[in-house]
Amino acid sequence: MKFLILSCLTLSAVLAQQTSAPGGNICNYTPVGDESNQKAVPIDTFRTSGLDFVRPNWCITHCADRKSVKVAARFNFANQSTSVATYKVRHTHTRASGLKMNAELISGVPTKRDDDPFNFCIDDAVSGQIDTIVKTYDDIETMSEALNYYINKPGWAYMIYDMGFPPSIIETDNVKQDLNYCSKTVNKQNSDGTFGLFQVFAGLIKSDSS
Ligand SMILES: *[C@@H]1O[C@H](CO)[C@@H](O)[C@H](O)[C@H]1NC(C)=O
Repeated sequence: MKFLILSCLTLSAVLAQQTSAPGGNICNYTPVGDESNQKAVPIDTFRTSGLDFVRPNWCITHCADRKSVKVAARFNFANQSTSVATYKVRHTHTRASGLKMNAELISGVPTKRDDDPFNFCIDDAVSGQIDTIVKTYDDIETMSEALNYYINKPGWAYMIYDMGFPPSIIETDNVKQDLNYCSKTVNKQNSDGTFGLFQVFAGLIKSDSS
């Protein structure tokens, strides 16, 4: 089963820019270089909300079963300075080691934060709302709508993954610590005692003309 899922993503990679995996959208927009490209495979499922219609600055390609997905998004970062640290982030979730995150510095100068240096959801209000929403609601459809409704930020789009059973991998380029961007994982204990792992990827998307 995992093999089939992986081959769907591989197929979409080979045909990149031209077409998409069966059931996905077509993302034939010309790359401009500042996209945050995100690949997630294999996951249980995902949902989007907010300003999430497919367009050059927010494009989602996925397998028909939603178990692998690629996102190309351009964020309107609050701090446009080129010295802001930019990372490539890889989340791996394995049975043996649980969830691990690796953040590789690509450019810029890291700023010191007192807490987690790899906190990529630095607006504490947004971060807290995500925790509450994932813990409060039981289905991912409601979670995704609640993210847009309660965080209530004009121009933001939201992506939420249910990572499902390990293994899974999420890789993201052009990750920054910025008030207009949020990427975080939330562990949730379900009512039956089992745990779920959710990943949220959200932010202010550049307007169509920029
Ligand atoms: C933007 O980021 C740079 C580099 O980290 C920093 O020196 C500067 O103070 C930031 N500007 C604002 C308005 O936060």
